[in-house]
Amino acid sequence: MSRFFLTTAIDYVNGRPHLGTAYEKITADVIARYKRLCGIDTHFLMGLDEHSLNVYRKAREQGLDPKAYCDGMAQQFRDVWARLDISFDDFIRTTEPRHKVAVQKMVERIQANGDLYEGVYEGWYCVSCEAFKPEKDLVDGLCPIHRTKPDWIREKNHFFRLSAYRDALLAHFAEHPGFLRPENRRNEILRLLEEGLEDISISRAGQPWGIPVPYDPSSVVYVWFDALINYITAVGYGTDVALKAKWWPAHVHIVGKDITRFHAVVWPAMLMAAGEALPRQVFGHGWVHFKGEKMSKSLGTAVDPLEAADRLGADPLRLYLVKEVVYGGDGDFSWERFEERYNADLANNLGNLVSRIGSMAERYVGGVVAPAAGPGPLAAVAAETLAAYRAAMDAFALHDGAAAVYRLISATNEYIAQTEPWTLAKQPDRAATLQQVLFDVAEAVRVAGVLLLPIIPGSAREILRRVGETTEPAALRLDRDAAWRPSGARTIRKGDPLWPRLEAAPATPPPARGPMTESPSPTPASPSPAPSGAASAPQAPAAAPAATSADTAAPAASGPARITFDDLMKVDLRAAKVLAAERVPKSAKLLKLTVDAGEAAPRTILAGLAEAYEPEAMVGRSIVIVANLAPRKMMGMESNGMVLAGSVEGGKPELVSFVDPPPPGAQVR
Ligand code: MSP
Repeated sequence: MSRFFLTTAIDYVNGRPHLGTAYEKITADVIARYKRLCGIDTHFLMGLDEHSLNVYRKAREQGLDPKAYCDGMAQQFRDVWARLDISFDDFIRTTEPRHKVAVQKMVERIQANGDLYEGVYEGWYCVSCEAFKPEKDLVDGLCPIHRTKPDWIREKNHFFRLSAYRDALLAHFAEHPGFLRPENRRNEILRLLEEGLEDISISRAGQPWGIPVPYDPSSVVYVWFDALINYITAVGYGTDVALKAKWWPAHVHIVGKDITRFHAVVWPAMLMAAGEALPRQVFGHGWVHFKGEKMSKSLGTAVDPLEAADRLGADPLRLYLVKEVVYGGDGDFSWERFEERYNADLANNLGNLVSRIGSMAERYVGGVVAPAAGPGPLAAVAAETLAAYRAAMDAFALHDGAAAVYRLISATNEYIAQTEPWTLAKQPDRAATLQQVLFDVAEAVRVAGVLLLPIIPGSAREILRRVGETTEPAALRLDRDAAWRPSGARTIRKGDPLWPRLEAAPATPPPARGPMTESPSPTPASPSPAPSGAASAPQAPAAAPAATSADTAAPAASGPARITFDDLMKVDLRAAKVLAAERVPKSAKLLKLTVDAGEAAPRTILAGLAEAYEPEAMVGRSIVIVANLAPRKMMGMESNGMVLAGSVEGGKPELVSFVDPPPPGAQVR
């Protein structure tokens, strides 16, 4: 069986994880889960970088022993990763004894190789970066990343002959074009190598916190030299020969673009000096910004991943980050966009599709779908989707992988609109077609569920359960199970909406709550009990906040009475598509419309449009309806809702329409 060993950067523990550090872990988790889905024996390593000076200072500020402080932080990190469904196989902490053994062994090996020497370092040091800063890299005397003045230090240090490895590194880059990805990072590092390298300090003198240099206990190993070694410690370097033989070298180190240089220059040179194999690849992802700034604890632009997961769910957060940010480039997080994507991708598109197949299967075929007349066009769409998804995921184009699945989901929703199962259900001679349409829709949802397992694991498991997948999710395999299965009856289970639609945010933003919490508070359209059956089933959004003062109605000076914000929120305005239209006998004004409002079955609305629109001109149009108007009887028929149109007194109505229509069921605000 083939193997895959991937790692993320290990986080500093001087603050809780933020959405930027969580982004890295989520995307690496998607890759790890994808590899497992492919049947590859996967080892996914994460951990914590605990020997930084900031950690020591923070612990002291709190009157704690640094190790006790780290233990507390380690628990907090683990809790956040569990909440985000991160499936690491090993979690290393650099304060563990196994790591001390490995670091001291590697320092000794490099020294024995003649690549360490003693000298004096005099220059700038940024504690937040934990990096020595050449004068030329400062901007107005400040660290360009943290915008703080670095410390000036002068001390005896041990130096690593990094400069001696320049040619070997250039040769490695030439022989392994895929060593550093994406291409722009590779070009950046190649330029740096071509300019030449300087030797680097690998120790700090007189520091109380860190791993002692084995041949000079008055110094500790510089935190980066210590931290990089974690990747090989965790697979047994210095402690377990068989484990190391099984997993080293790593297939990919996933790290942020700010630390690519450490991973693509310093780390490979260290491994060369220690006589160890180099990792096959380093992938430098971009930054997640918040309000245009790099998300960072020290800059006060951090968003709390737990707050984001609590608001709309861990899976919606995972999908947002994976689908919205081109992997390798920078991206932006905003609460507004997060809510927008939640409504579009989950509530309206995927959630609606899962609800529809559940309701239609129950209503029209007693909950069991079975093929009856050869597969329709969705089978080919699913095959194309699988090919595109696999190519994208293999190349770590995670955003393209997610987009491929969404093409299948949208095509399936469109297929329902085209085939109109509700019409087929009224035609007994078309029972086989109805059976096949419902089977195909359920099968397309099943394929999408398999492909979504790496991205939204809890929700995908629930979707698969609802469409009758009987294989345990962990045993599903891409080749076998994401291929179209043309046969076999399935029992479809109905359930609560997976992602209730959000109401619009209050007109007045909530009071600011500090840098980790500032956000508008959405309101779910209806309470959402967690789906039954799965331990890590998708979470429902948090409950609504109290109304703000802007919700209090003020009397209007003239014209119609004013309504409160709450009153407005009671009106369910939705996009709908006209499926059929006909004149109402004996009425000059009324048209009878059959519309798809994103529900299990179409609804009938009688609208006063006959003087302005021919029935044929209505079919296929996207319109806006009031969906929660109580049913009314007109001309002996029941009308369910109202169509929005504008008109002047005595003039003809003009339909409210869209330039770029959203799918049926989309909320209008
Ligand atoms: N401890 C070092 C890494 C040592 S690895 C041998 C470190 N820690 S960190 O906590 O500052 O960052 C951890 C990871 O999160 C890094 O890969 C970093 O690039 C990434 N990110 C930090 N902020 C980020 C964003 N705003 N967006 C995306 N990734 C971000 O560096």
